[in-house]
Amino acid sequence: MIRFHNSKRPFNKKLLIFISDFIRRLCGGDRIGRLSKMMITQSEKIYLQNKKKITILDFGCGSMEISKKLEELSYVKQITGVDTFASRFKTKKMKYMQYNNFFKNNKKKYDLIIIIDVLHHMGIDGSYKILKKLSKFSKNIVIKDHFEHGFFSRQLLRFVDFYANYAYDVNIPKKYYDYSSWKKTIKKSRLKEVKIIDSFQQHDGLFNFILNKKHHFVSHLKHVKK
Ligand SMILES: C[S@@+](CC[C@H](N)C(=O)[O-])C[C@H]1O[C@@H](n2cnc3c(N)ncnc32)[C@H](O)[C@@H]1O
Repeated sequence: MIRFHNSKRPFNKKLLIFISDFIRRLCGGDRIGRLSKMMITQSEKIYLQNKKKITILDFGCGSMEISKKLEELSYVKQITGVDTFASRFKTKKMKYMQYNNFFKNNKKKYDLIIIIDVLHHMGIDGSYKILKKLSKFSKNIVIKDHFEHGFFSRQLLRFVDFYANYAYDVNIPKKYYDYSSWKKTIKKSRLKEVKIIDSFQQHDGLFNFILNKKHHFVSHLKHVKK
């Protein structure tokens, strides 16, 4: 996964990133196009509910490639990206905060939190804890993650995750959600799922053939006061 410009990255990793990005573009592996469209749709829904400009938290933002598309929308007021690495990235509408700093200092609430391909890297069994924690900051959380469908599918996901992330020091999970563990996670996080797209086409071409749409889901969770 791409980081903001990092000049400290060794040359061999930079070369691997360049080659894998090139292969990805050639074989339909660009994920940003469809994912941004999906997140634009979700943001628009939230905007239309209140008819006022919205603020977004992009949790596990990487280099904020998806947020960069959301930033272009007139009804998006501000986007905060949170991830593990240090960076001073800032634009007119976007700013970056490191994980610890965010949880220590953030007092703001957001109209929407997006968590795209992050939770499985944090470990699916404990992921309800971060959802619970984040639900204090917004009523709406939209998650994009993976579903595994048995042993072969799990290994395929691990391989693709390795391919996409190996140059970025991101943890490659041992397992992914299935329908049942995802429902358990929602229950334990005390959130309510208002919508799930359980087959979401993320890629085109060869990449879509290898990792088809049943491996990707998008879920909209709501924080409902009891
Ligand atoms: C596959 S990348 C996705 C990046 C971005 N959301 C996107 O879709 O382009 C996973 C990201 O999750 C981040 N991540 C992993 N563990 C995290 C944690 N504990 N807190 C915040 N971000 C984390 C990684 O650093 C990485 O940038």
